[in-house]
Amino acid sequence: MVDAVGRFSLRGKLAVITGGTSGIGRAVAEHFASAGADVAVISRHREDCEQVASEIAGAYGVRAGGFACDVADETGVERALDAIVTALGTPNVLFNNAGININGGALDLDFGDWKRMMAVNVDGVFLMARAVARRLIAKGLPGSIVNMASISASIVNLPQRQTAYNTSKAAVLHMTRTLAVEWVEHGIRVNAVSPGYVWTEMNQVVPREIADFWMRATPYHRFATTDEIASAALYFASDASTYTSGSELIVDGCFTCL
Ligand SMILES: NC(=O)c1ccc[n+]([C@@H]2O[C@H](COP(=O)([O-])OP(=O)(O)OC[C@H]3O[C@@H](n4cnc5c(N)ncnc54)[C@H](O)[C@@H]3O)[C@@H](O)[C@H]2O)c1
Repeated sequence: MVDAVGRFSLRGKLAVITGGTSGIGRAVAEHFASAGADVAVISRHREDCEQVASEIAGAYGVRAGGFACDVADETGVERALDAIVTALGTPNVLFNNAGININGGALDLDFGDWKRMMAVNVDGVFLMARAVARRLIAKGLPGSIVNMASISASIVNLPQRQTAYNTSKAAVLHMTRTLAVEWVEHGIRVNAVSPGYVWTEMNQVVPREIADFWMRATPYHRFATTDEIASAALYFASDASTYTSGSELIVDGCFTCL
């Protein structure tokens, strides 16, 4: 007899979630905890991380901790990972999700904004993946890294201009494929989730005419819920996907089918 639900279980695993205090990251932290994982929530503000971790521990009966760092800061990332290992153990799963968007067309974008987006969205994803992989390899453990890409990795969004964001997400997608191949020999899988438009705070504040434009262009004519993105992350994080690495799962209500 097969155990289909059991293959999606994260029982016995420790998952690190960056940007885990809000939006998609918060939903993923709860889904992973609901699937049995202990969780380490990372974001920039310690109080927020600890608050979310304590709510998750209370609600799901797992061990959870909050660890503050800027994912773009190499020293901060290494310190946070050391603190996680000391408090909770070596993480088996990383949901590499922290990201920012500063809209702007190429002609007007401030170069400082460009560099900050690359630092958080690209350097941050690399530094976190490397920090987790190094610790897994040192222990001879397998693991699963799930990077947050976007449909913006492969298409040009309209009507807004977001050159730096699109470029950063394309880098995340190809980094995913590259690390997947590099780390096959270590049993570390690396995959990417690419959402379309998701109903998070990021999108709840965009001008009505832009949101309407997106919904007309999305065959589902609605935003994704954060739960619908979390399910995709759970597939990659769990042993349901043991032959899957270097893959991208697009969750976009058919947006990119057109
Ligand atoms: N909302 C969407 O429609 C959508 C679509 C595709 C991809 N994404 C991606 O999903 C991810 C999460 O976005 P969201 O919509 O949940 O928005 P969000 O703003 O709620 O989440 C971003 C999280 O990252 C954290 N963060 C930002 N910079 C950080 C840094 N330097 N160090 C540590 N943490 C940092 C924030 O505190 C926040 O918790 C992002 O990478 C985003 O690009 C979002």
